[in-house]
Amino acid sequence: MPTTNTINYTAILEKIHSEVKGQPITGKVADYIPELAHVDPTNFGMHIYCMESGHHSVGLNEKRFSIQSISKVLALMFTMQEVKNKEIFKRVDVEPSGDPFNSLIQLEREKGIPRNPFINAGALVISDMLVSLWDQPKQQFLEKIRVLSQNPTLDIDQEIYESELAHNDRNASLVHLMKSFGNIENDVDEVLDLYTFQCSIMVSCKELSTIFSLFAKEGWNLSGYRSLSEPETKRINAIMQTCGFYDEAGEFSFRVGLPGKSGVGGGIVAVHPGKYSVTVWSPPLNRKGNSELGMYALERLTTLTGLSIF
Ligand code: DON
Repeated sequence: MPTTNTINYTAILEKIHSEVKGQPITGKVADYIPELAHVDPTNFGMHIYCMESGHHSVGLNEKRFSIQSISKVLALMFTMQEVKNKEIFKRVDVEPSGDPFNSLIQLEREKGIPRNPFINAGALVISDMLVSLWDQPKQQFLEKIRVLSQNPTLDIDQEIYESELAHNDRNASLVHLMKSFGNIENDVDEVLDLYTFQCSIMVSCKELSTIFSLFAKEGWNLSGYRSLSEPETKRINAIMQTCGFYDEAGEFSFRVGLPGKSGVGGGIVAVHPGKYSVTVWSPPLNRKGNSELGMYALERLTTLTGLSIF
């Protein structure tokens, strides 16, 4: 197997880009949040931050897209920075759900305790914790992401935010159901507002790889300070591995072999602990809600580099 510094990442990314251009697009851009449907399905970007050789990219790696569910990983991290693990994980479990990201089914049976923090129900419990913790949750969330991405211009897309708020019936149902079981402390609309706001943050592949490099570096971020302890980093990576792709977590592990997280904006971020963080963006989604070409590109990356965690 090649060592990381003998790998020509730029050449590999270029090869993947040319392969991707020849792939048929069978996926569909998300439109259940109407404003998301306006994106050009042919957009493609990929960016790696490698611990040994720095930044490598191809395509639209600096064009911003809607972060969506990828923000759930960061929300969990911010909560873990302030709340004891045992307090968090008595309100949300760490088991794969095997169900779609916005499913209500298990929640009723499991008495309002979501399977994990990366399905919508679990992320909404995490939002509830942040609403309890912070005075200005939306502003504080954004500020933290700006620092981690090393870009103070990072912001939400107001149209996407309003569009999701206006079409939030399933998420509202999840919060109400959990509140009926006593697992939501705050006002339902406040919880939905923070969750929807964090999902409408716009980021580029480069910014996401920069932020997620901390999960490759035992919790140390690129600004040189520690965001998470080593055991906490290991835990979040483990949850990404087992729960980052909903009812397609097994398939992602099988094909790519890295901890990762997807979003319905078409982004996927993945991490090779000790080696690199990588982000790919291609808006058309497969029927499980994960970027179709994004999964293909990451599968090719771990194949061509010989670097997966397995
Ligand atoms: O709550 C939602 O439906 C969206 N804001 C996020 C869903 C999402 O990104 C699922 N990921 N693949």
